[in-house]
Order: sequence, then structure tokens, then C-alpha cells
Amino acid sequence: MRSLINILDLSVEEVDKLLDVADDIIANREKYSEVCHGKKLATLFFEPSTRTRLSFEAAMYELGGNVLGFSAAASSSASKGESVADTTRMACCYADIIAMRHPKEGAPFVASKVSSVPVVNAGDGGHNHPTQTLTDLLTIRRKKGRLNNFTIGFCGDLKFGRTVHSLITALARYEGIKIVLISPDELKLPSYIKKDVIKNNGIEYVQTTDLEAVLPELDVLYMTRVQQERFFSEEEYIRLRDSYILTRKKLDKAKEDLIILHPLPRVNEISTDVDDDPRACYFEQALCGKFVRMALIMELLGLHPEEKESK
Ligand code: CP
Repeated sequence: MRSLINILDLSVEEVDKLLDVADDIIANREKYSEVCHGKKLATLFFEPSTRTRLSFEAAMYELGGNVLGFSAAASSSASKGESVADTTRMACCYADIIAMRHPKEGAPFVASKVSSVPVVNAGDGGHNHPTQTLTDLLTIRRKKGRLNNFTIGFCGDLKFGRTVHSLITALARYEGIKIVLISPDELKLPSYIKKDVIKNNGIEYVQTTDLEAVLPELDVLYMTRVQQERFFSEEEYIRLRDSYILTRKKLDKAKEDLIILHPLPRVNEISTDVDDDPRACYFEQALCGKFVRMALIMELLGLHPEEKESK
């Protein structure tokens, strides 16, 4: 029984295979419509979500399975003091696979240690978000045709942005990736990621506070929201929240084949006048999330279109 807690739980070959399956699902939707018949996904979301929870649920429904769960800690017995471990043990009684989001780093890992079914980390605090990374990789591969030899800029809250941490970790395993880290000084990438992931893998990188200066070099721009919920000081959040606002005008200096990604939700960091620019890929990216989660659910349940089975 296998879980996905960190993107490194999957080899590069396994990631590539999941992306291949996601591409096949996009091309042949009907083929997958009954693969998870009789299976149930539990979505245990202790923290708010729109895309991750809904795309997991849509993924399971499109595979012919069913979904149960909760969308807030307040509507579960966590509000009465039940532990993550006990909540997980209960979900195992009722479901075949669990997707868990939690504000505390490591909570899905704890769940995976007591679970008798696969656990997927759907985002844990400021730590990791591996299924967002699969989403991002699928989007980049479909748009660029490759996962190597490009320059990617990460802009915004690189300190608390778990999607950034996971995607940098994933890209470090591909050839010819150059990383541009764009953030205010207060929201720089944590030094352990810079050292353990970027420097130790010999990845070329630069760090700057100036988005406009580096924009012309980028093949991929990964914008992020300043993560209000991780700040201790409201005053500090207000001071930093509008550090970067991408506008249509600023894109005049960018490459014609740039792709702009954002895990969403956005607040102010991408002006709505960018949305109809052909380089804006963030809504398509959210759609990719459903297909790659379908591929992941099948993989973790050991199910394939030609190997239908019911519990
Ligand atoms: N990208 C992402 O994790 O979005 P949600 O918080 O809406 O799930």
C-alpha cells in the first residue's frame, strides 16, 4: 500500500508515466469512466480549498467511484479534539483512498503511518503540495512539450508557498532547468530548500526582487499569492501582499511563448487584464489538476482500464 506525501515519493519515471496516463485520459475520457466503480475516496480537508478538493472529487466521480468527506475541520470531530491519527483510522473504515489537507506540516505523513489505505497529501501547511506539482508538470509538458531545458521564474511568496517548494523539488530532477527566484526579502525561499534542493543538485539559479528586470528571460512564470493564513502579523501581510502585480502592460517585455502559471487562488498578483492573453495558462492548469489526480487515484489503487475490479 502506497501513499503520496512528498513529490519525491515518486521516481521521475513514475511521474512521467502519470503524466502519460493523464494525457491519455484527456484523449480518451470514456475509456476511464468505470475504472473506480465501487471505490470510495475520502476527502479530509482541515483547511479551505476550492481546486484541490473539487478536482479530487470530480476525478473520482469521472472514474466511476464515489466520494465522502468533510471540507472544514469545524464540521468534523477534529473540532471535538479527535487526533489526525484517529480521524484517519475512521476514514479507513469507510473509504479506499484518502486525500488530506491540513494546516500543520506533516499531518498527512502521520496519517499515512496509521492508514490501511493510500493517503495523498493535498497540501500540508507551508510544506508540500505534491498533486499541485503533478498538475504543474502536466501543464508545462502539454504547453512546452518538455520538462527540461527552460528557465522558470517563481514570483511572490516563496517562503510559505508550498506549491513552489514541491515544484522546485520536482524540477531539480530534470536537465537544464534554470530557476529565477523573485520575492521580497521577507518572503525568500527557505534556505533548506535552496541548499538541499537547488545547490546540492547543481541547479543554476538567481535571486532577485525585480520581476520586470528578469521577465524577458523567462520561459515559464509561476506567480503565487502571498499566503495570508501563514502570517503571524496582519500588518506585515498588508505591507507585503501587493509586492508583485503582473499586468498586461508588463508582459510587453516577456517572450511570446512564455507560459504564465499560478496554482490559484489569486488575489491581486495577476491583473484580470492578463486573463485573455494567450500566455495565461492558469485556468487550463486547474483543469489539468483533475486529469492528473485521476491518473494518481488509479495508480495508488492499482487499477487500470483493462483491469476493472470491485471491492
Ligand atoms: N491550488 C490549490 O491548492 O488551490 P485550493 O487551495 O483552492 O485547493
